[in-house]
Amino acid sequence: MTSYRIAVLPGDGIGKEVVPEGIRVLEAAGRRFDIKFRWDTFPWSCENYKRAGRMMPEDGIDQLRKNDAIFLGAVGFPGVPDHVSLWGLLIPIRRQMQQYINLRPVRMLKGMVSPLRGRGPADIDFLVVRENNEGEYSEIGGRIYSGTEAEIVVQETIFTRKGVDRVLRYAFELAGKRDSKHVTSATKSNGIIHTMTYWDERFAAIAREYPDIRTDQYHIDILTAHFVLHPDWFDLVVGSNLFGDILSDLGPAIAGAIGIAPSANINPTREYPSMFEPVHGSAPDIAGQGIANPIGQIWSGAMMLDHLGHPEAALAVEEAIETVLESTSLRTPDMGGTATTVELGAAIAEAL
Ligand code: NAI
Ligand code: MG
Repeated sequence: MTSYRIAVLPGDGIGKEVVPEGIRVLEAAGRRFDIKFRWDTFPWSCENYKRAGRMMPEDGIDQLRKNDAIFLGAVGFPGVPDHVSLWGLLIPIRRQMQQYINLRPVRMLKGMVSPLRGRGPADIDFLVVRENNEGEYSEIGGRIYSGTEAEIVVQETIFTRKGVDRVLRYAFELAGKRDSKHVTSATKSNGIIHTMTYWDERFAAIAREYPDIRTDQYHIDILTAHFVLHPDWFDLVVGSNLFGDILSDLGPAIAGAIGIAPSANINPTREYPSMFEPVHGSAPDIAGQGIANPIGQIWSGAMMLDHLGHPEAALAVEEAIETVLESTSLRTPDMGGTATTVELGAAIAEAL
């Protein structure tokens, strides 16, 4: 039997409701595939911030480091500004643990209904590879003449050769393992003339190392339109931190629901634990009602199993999700049903 220590960060809002369902399904997978988990839960959240003045303790990263992986719900809640919760927890974890890849599958599951007319599971199946450590999300910048008519605000984007090349190379390596061997780059080099022309230049350079892989690139504006009009064009889309973030909410929306989308924050060198979390946030508008869709969290658990070296268990979790969607009418309200978070989670665990 293999055994893992998992740090659990339920966070805020619906994070606290969907994480237990993720654990329920992972425990079921563990029973079937002989994998044991030790769950260590950390109450780091906006509530914690209000009490302690910090999102996580000063030695938070050291505490997390001892684990094999991190299983996160979502952070953010009204009363604490979103940039405080994000920069106080999620971004430090992603950066200090060198989780420089954010992998976000966009796949229309069997049994889901797409808001796009006439589209089915065969049309929507691709990966978004988002740069996760630098780019547009930087602390560099500031304000001068605050509060006056002369106010000036500057926000810098950081692209490093190392950071850009490693995400592009990761994308090409991953595309090489997929049938269609095709990488699409998200750019905006017409408007953003320094960083995005650099991105294009490095994309072309790295592409030359992978002559078997077909490439194309689109400016982000038309790319969002193509996601809606031609989702079947894509197999793997690589983008900067901001573009990858935007595309990975749009992708799941066309695949049927934002609440189903999983993500993995990966440290490819495995020097640090990687972190698995749904794409969605803490959804304060529905928090506390027990009706959040747990599939994004459960599917993130499948990605964690895959990362830990159990692809067969990961596949079984994905199949269990599809079995429930195909063979039952259990749906949370965001998918047009009346099921609760617990009912859907329990049904998926049962199917497994
Ligand atoms: P959100 O993803 O929390 O919610 C957007 C909309 O989708 C809401 O109407 C919500 O009810 C719905 N939704 C999201 N997940 C759902 C689920 N599993 N089941 C059913 N419906 C679901 O994004 P929003 O509103 O922009 O952000 C809310 C808070 O979450 C903010 O504090 C934000 O900073 C934070 N956030 C945190 C993230 C993280 O921890 N990784 C990611 C995105 C946002
Ligand atoms: Mg996002």
